[in-house]
Formats: sequence, C-alpha cells, structure tokens
Amino acid sequence: MDDYSPLILVVDDEKSILKSLSRILIRENYQVITCEDPREAVEVLRNEYVSLLLSDLKMKNIDGLSLLKMSRKISPESEIIIMTAYGSVEVAVEAIKEGAYDFITKPIKKAQLLKTIDKALEKQKLVRENRSLRKELALRKKQNILVGNSPVFKKTMDLISQVSDSKANVLIYGESGTGKELAAKTIHNLSPRSGEPFVAVNCAALPESIIESELFGYVKGAFTGASSGRQGRFIQADGGTLLLDEIGELASHLQVKLLRVLQEGVIEQVGADKAVQADIRLIAATHKDLRKEVEKGKFREDLFYRLNVINVTMPPLRNRLDDIPLLVTHFIDKFNKKNNKEIKGIDESALEILSSYHWPGNVRELENIIERAVVLTREDIIRIKDLPPELTSVPYQGTSISVQIGTPLEDIENKIIKETLRFTDGNKKDAAKLLGIATRTIYRRVSED
Ligand SMILES: Nc1ncnc2c1ncn2[C@@H]1O[C@H](COP(=O)(O)OP(=O)(O)OP(=O)(O)O)[C@@H](O)[C@H]1O
Ligand SMILES: [Mg+2]
Repeated sequence: MDDYSPLILVVDDEKSILKSLSRILIRENYQVITCEDPREAVEVLRNEYVSLLLSDLKMKNIDGLSLLKMSRKISPESEIIIMTAYGSVEVAVEAIKEGAYDFITKPIKKAQLLKTIDKALEKQKLVRENRSLRKELALRKKQNILVGNSPVFKKTMDLISQVSDSKANVLIYGESGTGKELAAKTIHNLSPRSGEPFVAVNCAALPESIIESELFGYVKGAFTGASSGRQGRFIQADGGTLLLDEIGELASHLQVKLLRVLQEGVIEQVGADKAVQADIRLIAATHKDLRKEVEKGKFREDLFYRLNVINVTMPPLRNRLDDIPLLVTHFIDKFNKKNNKEIKGIDESALEILSSYHWPGNVRELENIIERAVVLTREDIIRIKDLPPELTSVPYQGTSISVQIGTPLEDIENKIIKETLRFTDGNKKDAAKLLGIATRTIYRRVSED
C-alpha cells in the first residue's frame, strides 16, 4: 500500500457490527468512519472523500438502497459494498444494478470482506490516479494559474491545493484584485470536479429582484411572465463548483434559503412544490470582514459558520512585492500573445518602480499596467516611460540621505528627521508617521536643535 490510506465509511444500525468491522479495518490500516444513522452517513459523504461505502441493507430512517442511490449522486467516486442477510439477495442484485461494486452476505467472514474491499479499492485507485494526472495537467495550464513564489503566497497556494481535494465549503477573503475569483477557479480545476461545471455568480452585480430566480431557478408559471422554466445557477453547477462572489451582499431572506441548501443539499426552485437534490461544492468570496458583518447583524451567524469551514485569505500585493518580477513576466507573456507582440522584458529601473509601489488595486492593477505598457511601447523592452504617470511621479522615489561611516547615531537620527520634515513640507505629524515615531519626539528633537 502507498502512503495514501483510503477512507472507509461503515454504516449499520447495529452497534456491535460497527465495532467489530471497524476493529478489523483499522488493523488493516484503513481510515474508518462509522455511522449508526444513515442520515449521518449522508453528511459524511457530502464532506469527506470517502473511498468506500460499506453499508447494511436494512436500516431505520433510510434503507441501504436509498443510501446507495444518494451516495452515487453526492459522491460518485466512492465505491460501494452492500452487506445483506441471507434471503435478501434479490435486493443485493438490485443494489449492483444501481452501481454498487459488490455485496457480501451476513454473517460476515473476515477473509471475504477484506478480499472484496481490496478489489473495490483497486478500482478506486485507478480513479484516484486519474485524478492526480488531471491535477498535474491543470497545473501546467499556465494561462489560468495563480502566479507567485514568495513565502506568503506559497503558503496560500499550499492551502488552495490542499482544500481542492476535500469537499468542504471554502470562504475566500481578500481585498479587491487579489485574485479571489482566480483562486476559486484554481480550487475547482485542481479538484476531482474539474471536468464538471464551474459557475460564478456575483451577488453584488445582480439586482435583488432577480437574484433569487437567477440562483435557484423557477418553474414554468411561477410568476407572471414565467412562460417557461429556468434552471438557475445552483442546478447548473450540479456536480461541480459554485462561486458566490461578494457573498456579504446577499439579502437576508436569501441567506436563509442558502443555509437550507447547505444544510440539506436541496434546491427549491421558485414556484416548485418539490425540492431537487443537487451536489454542489460551494465557494464564497468577499472583501468584507464577514465576522464584523455578523456582529453588526447584517450576516447570519449560522450561515457564516457553514461557509467558513475553510478560510483562504488572499494576501494583498504590497505584502508580497517579491512576486512582482514573476507576475510581470507572466503578464508580458499573456499580453504578447493577445496583442501579437514580442516584448522581451522590463528594464531594471521600471521594475524597481513597480516593486516599491503600494498597489491599492493589487494584481488587477499590475495586470492593467502591464497590458497598457505592452500595447504602448515601441521598443521590445518596457521602460519607465511606458508606465502610467501616477506611478512615476511618486515623490518618494530617489529621496535619500547619505551618511559617512562612523557618524554618531544621534546625528544620523537628527539628519533623517530634518530631511523627512523637509519632505513633508514641515508637517511634523506626517513626518512622525513616516518615521514610525511619536510626534512629540519630533517636537523634542527639533527644539533641541
Ligand atoms: N496570483 C495571480 N497570478 C496571476 N494572475 C492573477 C493573480 N491574482 C490575480 N490575477 C489576475 O488579476 C485579475 C484580478 O483577479 P480576480 O478577478 O481573481 O480578483 P478578485 O479578488 O476576485 O477581485 P474583485 O474583488 O475586484 O472581484 C484577474 O485577471 C486575474 O487573472
Ligand atoms: Mg472577484
């Protein structure tokens, strides 16, 4: 066995069976989750990558066959083995028709159980290998990939790669232009769902009056003018990933409806009398501090906790300035292709300016600046003159003092204070801020002069 240990979900309403099965399986180095209540099992299937579902056939609440059907829908990659008592073989055969891998009869013989599990997992392994191949391919699709190799960004990338394997809901936080949408797409592309749809909805861009039918869809005749039905984005994303961008803007009655989707995995189309099952991985994004919105009573706390299972924070560009050279190269390539140009790079002084700017618009701002430069330049190198004036006229540039080695520290301090004051046109408060000291220190030093 490789270092990957498959997760087996065992469902049986008899405690003693659960106990003995889990003992056998753990001894074989499997990860095991046991559930007495099949409804709990549904929750596990929704949230974990279960390699194998080992389920009893006759149970209270949900019978094994229905659990099997739900599992096929919620977690199609999980293999299923049904356990059945003598005499109910017909149902077991039906289970296989519905997609179970095999069945075993009770009382369970250890050797037969392990052999069947082994075979089912062999099949599962093929599925898994396929998945990691796809993951690599996605990583190679450079155009749509998050670029950056600073330590801060690598941490974020690691988290993104990790969460892509799970089904847990993700909340992406980040200032405007930090790459929240691209991060969501990356999570989808690296996940086993990459072949399924990725649907993005911006909650802030849609008028409140239509957002409900846009998200949930409606049936024919649901309201005046609904001459035909409409699926809605949730159902479009069935099997795949749904990004709810600017989730902080979602109206409160829709927050309630969304909570139901997350709790029960069902979509209620407007005007429909029956809810539809759907298998959706939800990613929400926001630039707002949702915790504060909860405190202010603007966002439901229960929904917040449902969404915030995993939290990914996209760092602002000013905290990872060492990523700028790589990003610039990436964007030059991108816009060379788009504009049929052959710009070779950027000169050092232009790069220096980009690397010391504070980037309020983050990566999007950098991307726009490089596109503009690629289009405007008549040479094959981007130079300072190709950058927009708001960057090149920053007064901070080139302002420095020089001191002789061996100058007493106090003199250096006095000199830097004096020069900073000259730079702020004598404004002591601004100077203190720039120097990171108290304003009264400046007053004291200046009066000592
Ligand atoms: N790390 C990155 N590598 C490459 N391109 C990036 C990166 N981060 C962002 N981008 C690009 O910057 C632009 C803005 O990114 P995106 O739309 O994902 O940001 P956002 O956080 O969703 O912004 P907003 O809050 O304004 O919606 C996109 O064109 C995206 O492709
Ligand atoms: Mg966005």
